[in-house]
Amino acid sequence: MSERIADLVSRMTAAEKLGQLQIIFRPNHDDAAALVRRGIGSMFWPPSATATNALQREAVENTRLGIPLLIGLDVIHGQRTIAPVPLAQAASFDPAMVEELAALAAREARSGGVNWTFSPMVDVSRDPRWGRVVEGFGEDVLLNAALGAAMVRGYQGDDLAAATSIAATAKHFVAYGQPEGGRDYNTVDVSDHRLRNVHLEPFRAVVAAGAASVMASFNTVAGVPVHADRRLLTGILKDEWGFDGVVVGDADGVANLVPHRVATDLDDAVALAYGAGIDIEMGGTPESIGWGAERLDSARLDDAVRRVLSLKERLGLFETPYVDPDAEITEPSSESRALVRAAAARSAVLLRNDGTLPLGAPRRMLLTGPYATSTDHLGAWTQYFGARSVSIADELAAQHPEIVVTVLPGVGFVEDDADDIGGVIAAVPGHDVVVVCVGEPSSFSGEAASRSDLRLPGRQAELIRAVAAAGVPVVVVMANGRPLVVADWIDQAPAVLEVWHGGTEAPAAIVDLLFGVAEPAGRLPMSFPRAVGQIPIHYDHENTGRPATTRGSLRLTTTDVAVEGPANVAEKFTSKYLDLDLGPQFPFGHGSGYATFAYGEPRLSASVIGVDGSVELTVEVTNTSTRTGDEVVQVFLEDLVASVAPPVRRLVAFARRTLAPGETSTFSFAIGPAQLGFRLTDGTLAVEPGNVVLHVGPTLAATRPVPLRVTPPPLPH
Ligand code: GLC
Repeated sequence: MSERIADLVSRMTAAEKLGQLQIIFRPNHDDAAALVRRGIGSMFWPPSATATNALQREAVENTRLGIPLLIGLDVIHGQRTIAPVPLAQAASFDPAMVEELAALAAREARSGGVNWTFSPMVDVSRDPRWGRVVEGFGEDVLLNAALGAAMVRGYQGDDLAAATSIAATAKHFVAYGQPEGGRDYNTVDVSDHRLRNVHLEPFRAVVAAGAASVMASFNTVAGVPVHADRRLLTGILKDEWGFDGVVVGDADGVANLVPHRVATDLDDAVALAYGAGIDIEMGGTPESIGWGAERLDSARLDDAVRRVLSLKERLGLFETPYVDPDAEITEPSSESRALVRAAAARSAVLLRNDGTLPLGAPRRMLLTGPYATSTDHLGAWTQYFGARSVSIADELAAQHPEIVVTVLPGVGFVEDDADDIGGVIAAVPGHDVVVVCVGEPSSFSGEAASRSDLRLPGRQAELIRAVAAAGVPVVVVMANGRPLVVADWIDQAPAVLEVWHGGTEAPAAIVDLLFGVAEPAGRLPMSFPRAVGQIPIHYDHENTGRPATTRGSLRLTTTDVAVEGPANVAEKFTSKYLDLDLGPQFPFGHGSGYATFAYGEPRLSASVIGVDGSVELTVEVTNTSTRTGDEVVQVFLEDLVASVAPPVRRLVAFARRTLAPGETSTFSFAIGPAQLGFRLTDGTLAVEPGNVVLHVGPTLAATRPVPLRVTPPPLPH
């Protein structure tokens, strides 16, 4: 702790200390100025150099100690230039790109006086009914950890005091991504084994990457609301991991302890929360925060104040509380547009392709579906952005004036009388290709936006089926913020491009992808279920004692299904549904590209290692096409026997690389305790002796195995 902070803490009154431990979100300007003069030490505020400077001036010049403000905002995937939503960025399997996008967002936000973002979200989420899957990096632990750490590096850079850095917040600690029923804010009850090996792991990685703050989650874990859970906030996060940053409550998360029915009133909630390890309470209004400092333990109060003041000091706010209005970035630049356009293309996933993509040189195109003309590509979490996107139709006209494009949306996002599928079908003849642009509007995902039915909204599926039967090549472009159930049309659509909500330049990226100017190479960060009834569904599931192995499930028919004979009995008593095929529609890691690649046999530098040993895994990949393209190599671990039921597969490494036509590149991965081990419930990393298999390939369905034996440690002499 610096002398400045020690001196300040020694001079602060209890009320001034408590003021440093609160942030009010969305006050109006007059309230904000009055609250700052009253001692509130942090504020939500939009990026505006003039307005944030004015607010900082209130703190620096009109309070007794002149402590500058933390100015926080949800800069989730861009500020003025909007990047693809985080779930889309996850599909890129490209940490370097994620870091670059976060650095862009930090430059733009800090230039407007925002110095603290509530991002990255690293909630492992396996339930696409939950609308917030859009904000995170999907179902896999490693992908959340790697991309969350990349985002922290991008936001914070090497020096938080730099004019291009903002403090990152890892959220929502913890296990928020597994709410019962997929309903936001709902109960979470997970075992310590799953807590340690799934939900805590990405936070451990992001804290290790230096995240300046961590946000507590709204949910309970095993009956305890996280905002009041000392075991998690202090025991694990601060004591076990040594986190010395700031733990901020979620919006009204402290006040919510009353409806959680673990606190009698707001003062009780405040005492519980700070006692558990909350350092800054986030309240919606001056009335919804606790003002009673006298009930708080003074040592805990001082610890929280020191953490907050240290963050302000690391941000350089005591020396430079103001930003330069002449340097403020208020609009996307050509460079930032180019960056997010490339990112949107790298985040797209080619789900199916019968060769229709990339399009050749159609003379006449019929563009249909609600996303033909919608400009809603920015996603669920954008505030105070610089420019809305255009539409796919606009972009086609701008990029390809040579093509005669008939634009007929045909249906909207919700079913209504204006639907005109008949009119679209009548227009098909004479066109070389039909591009059906479907999806979910941004408002259908995000916070408090859970859905119980994951099919395309409205009559979009009906439109796809009708167009697919019209006898002209069809391409489906899907823009959505979560995995969807596509079983009601996917078999009729031989070319499907998942483009998510791709941000400011999404339509340009989509047109680039359609014509092969950009290459799709993304992989699904979340499984696409066949039906909502399968949820939760994720690739790293346990094998169970009775795994179903054959494709066929027994189908309910109009007559009773008689199950006879030993084969059927063996098949019958296994873990499956009577009325649904096995496995997801598309698994985690699914995706392909226009270029094609061939794999050599994966090799290990040793086939036997000790429990603390490491080995190098290499595999040669060749671009066997005439197109330059990216390949994503995935490495999955299969632990054959362990002391606890292991997942059937677990992603332990991945890499994305561009290969020229005919080029062969050697991918190399270090495999050691971090890849082979799993967490015990006390947090220890355990590597157990035994046989494992490493599966290497472009997707789960196309891996090649290489065995590895892990030997026990030598017996003590
Ligand atoms: C919201 C979200 C959280 C966000 C905060 C501030 O309720 O849960 O992710 O950072 O409030 O907007």
